[in-house]
This record gives sequence, C-alpha cells and structure tokens, in this order.
Amino acid sequence: MSNPKSVWEEFFADKRSGGHRSSSDEFISKEAREKLFHLNGGKTLLDFGCGAGELLVHYAPEYERLIGADFSASMLDEASERITRKGHENITLILADDKAVWEKLDSSFDRITAAGVIQYLTYEEIDNFICNASKHLNKGGKIVLFDILNPYLYPLWKIGLFSKNADYRRIFRKIGFETFNVIASSLKNRPRDILGSTHKPCIIENIANKHGFEMEHVQSMYYEYKYHAIIS
Ligand SMILES: C[S@@+](CC[C@H](N)C(=O)[O-])C[C@H]1O[C@@H](n2cnc3c(N)ncnc32)[C@H](O)[C@@H]1O
Repeated sequence: MSNPKSVWEEFFADKRSGGHRSSSDEFISKEAREKLFHLNGGKTLLDFGCGAGELLVHYAPEYERLIGADFSASMLDEASERITRKGHENITLILADDKAVWEKLDSSFDRITAAGVIQYLTYEEIDNFICNASKHLNKGGKIVLFDILNPYLYPLWKIGLFSKNADYRRIFRKIGFETFNVIASSLKNRPRDILGSTHKPCIIENIANKHGFEMEHVQSMYYEYKYHAIIS
C-alpha cells in the first residue's frame, strides 16, 4: 500500500503553479484581497504550502516579514523567480513539509496561513499542524486555513451542479464517471483527484478548540465548494 503523503509529494514534485481557477494576475489579486481581509493585519506571516508564491507576492506589501514554506522544490523555484520579478525583499522561502517546517523557523508569527493545502493532510496531521502552529504564534495571532474542501458542497460541484450549463443528462453522465473514478482510485489506492480530501468544518473546529482556540468558518468567495477556517 502506498503512503498517501508520498503520493502528494510525488504529485507536486514537478508542479509550478497552485492551480487557481484562473492564473491571470487580475484573478489572483482578487483572491489575495479576499484572503488579506480575513488575515486582517499582523506584521509577520508564515504561508505554509506557499507553492509558486502566487498569493505570497500579494501579501508581501502588507507585512514586514514573510516566510513561505513548501515541500516542492519546483514550486519554490517558481516562487523565488516570481518574488525576484516583483522585487520583494521581505520574503524567505523554506523547503520543508508539515513536520519539518517547525524546526526550521527561528521566530514566531502574527499570522500563520495555508491556502489550498489542508486537503492534502489527514485530520491527525491537521491536529499536529495546529498544535505546532500554536507554539509559533504571537499573542493575539491567528491561524487562517483557506480553501478547505467542503464535504457537503464538493460532491455537488464535482457532478457539475454549479456549472452554468448543468442539465440532467450531463449530471447523470458525471455521476457515472465519478462513481467509476472513486472505485478505480480506491482499487489502485491512489487519490481520487488532484484536489485532495474534504474535511468537515466541525472536526476542524474540535481540533482548534482542543488547542485552546475559537474557530469561525466562512464560505470562500471565489470557490463555491471551499471554506476558510479562521482560528484565533
Ligand atoms: C494547491 S497548491 C497551493 C499553493 C499556494 N498556497 C497557492 O494558493 O497558490 C498546494 C501546495 O501545498 C504544498 N503542500 C501540500 N502538502 C504539503 C505538505 N505536507 N508540506 C508542505 N507543502 C505541502 C504543495 O507542494 C503545493 O505547493
């Protein structure tokens, strides 16, 4: 049986983009503005799973010091090029996964965030992530987990229910395809799709509460099937 973590490490090993709905500057800058609204200030920020730095470069003007961490060297290469192009001098990049990252940090942060990353972690790994993050968070700081796949809405999106041209025939075809996909991927012990796993907001909230935090969950503005967990 293959370990799901190594499947994701392998998957991202040669990727150079975070897979946003559109890679246009205009779209990503709108996404970043929504995220900055929820981050709501702070002077120092850790962007875990920063990928190609698409959001990080938009966060940079709002923070004194930022760290981007990711386990994919190709993503970090792309992030480094983007940061140089944009001329930001307040960002440091670290190659590390969710376990190794904490020992590579020499300070704590006002904001610890991850966008589109939690779906690649199990509940146990999320628990450890929040536990470690809480030890690297300044007083009054926040952990903001963006774009978590909503288990109630994601299946509806997958079968095309939110699509502009949804009709019964198309939806039934998609249900058939998805059912086949679920069976085939579980037989091969591979992830169902590149977006990863869904996580229930109530379980993330229980984890947050266990570590002494309150959690608020809000719908993502740009992805119908994703939500953000704001932990403070
Ligand atoms: C969908 S991309 C999002 C990238 C970026 N946050 C953005 O929104 O543009 C997910 C990123 O998380 C990274 N990632 C996934 N699991 C990780 C882990 N356990 N440790 C470190 N990075 C991880 C991947 O390498 C990838 O760059």
